[in-house]
Amino acid sequence: MESKTSILITCLIFATAFQLLLPLSEASGRGSELKVGYYKDKCQKAESIVTSTVSSYVKSYPGLGGGLIRMFFHDCFVRGCDASVLLDPTPENNQTEKLAIPNFPSLRGFEVIDAAKAELEKECKGVVSCADIIALAARDASYLLGNIFYKIPTGRLDGRVSNSTEALLNLPPPFFNLTQLEALFATKGLNAFDLVALSGAHSIGRSHCSSFTSRLYPTIDPTMDQNFGASLRKLCPDPKNATNDGVVPQDFVTPDKLDEQYYKNVESLTALFFSDWSLLTSSETSKQVDTYTKEPETFKQDFANAMVKMGNIEVLTGPPGEVRGPTCRFVN
Ligand code: HEM
Repeated sequence: MESKTSILITCLIFATAFQLLLPLSEASGRGSELKVGYYKDKCQKAESIVTSTVSSYVKSYPGLGGGLIRMFFHDCFVRGCDASVLLDPTPENNQTEKLAIPNFPSLRGFEVIDAAKAELEKECKGVVSCADIIALAARDASYLLGNIFYKIPTGRLDGRVSNSTEALLNLPPPFFNLTQLEALFATKGLNAFDLVALSGAHSIGRSHCSSFTSRLYPTIDPTMDQNFGASLRKLCPDPKNATNDGVVPQDFVTPDKLDEQYYKNVESLTALFFSDWSLLTSSETSKQVDTYTKEPETFKQDFANAMVKMGNIEVLTGPPGEVRGPTCRFVN
């Protein structure tokens, strides 16, 4: 009996020590408190309201679909998926995440979330969190632009804190190399496999010239196809002489399709960012890139799984989390 107890204690000590080594999101297991269909008995129309709002916007402006998928990423990587990215500056806090360099002025889709929240508040006041609206909107955008269908667990609560410095520190800049990207993703409980799968989102949407002109001037980066670089120079003048920051599609071949074209662009050195190119710099990640160029369905499946995994990062399912309302722009 005594030895059984000591074995149990030893096991507990090991389990606790092991948990401490894991990233927060995995160690706490908080993501597992989410569930598919969480709103079924709380607000039956919740998911369909988000879906119809997103589809009406994305059908008119496909670019907003890219904005919503990126918004999900930028929300989840900073304090977890808690809608902190949606908070507007106030006199008490004038430096919220949405004003940070990675988000301002490029992050878009806020009007879609506002519209969905307004409808949801009419249908069931104070029930559906803004964090879940972002997650559902990203799922719907993935379907509309990529025919990628997946179920996303819900039940997230909204956070009350938003800080622009945290956004700067937790979101990867386009000049990161693979080691830096992998390290950052690891802090969120995501691995290199997830990194490669999620990067496929760069097959839609746009980029401002300022995100990659360092690869064009004074000389075209040797890690970029030289003809591609020359054509980008025509669209994006040297920042020294530029009067405004133009935009270009991320994927010139199928700009509004969330598909495997991104990986073909990476291989042909015609993706915009150094971070995109860096996926070729390990045999493991470059193999995965190559697989996706040949197996679009594998990409879709892996992308869907990685989006669900990203949606579990450090979620709030209890205090101090709240269901923000009547708008997603201010805490209660
Ligand atoms: C791996 C590291 C990543 C880096 C360094 C990165 C960086 C960037 C940058 C610099 C832009 C252009 C912003 C602009 O100038 O307008 C951009 C756009 C975009 N990113 Fe990423 N990103 C990364 C990962 C991701 C992930 C994981 C997702 C989503 C799953 C994502 C989705 C998007 C989308 C959809 C756009 C286009 C947005 C629009 O059209 O409004 N990115 N990214």
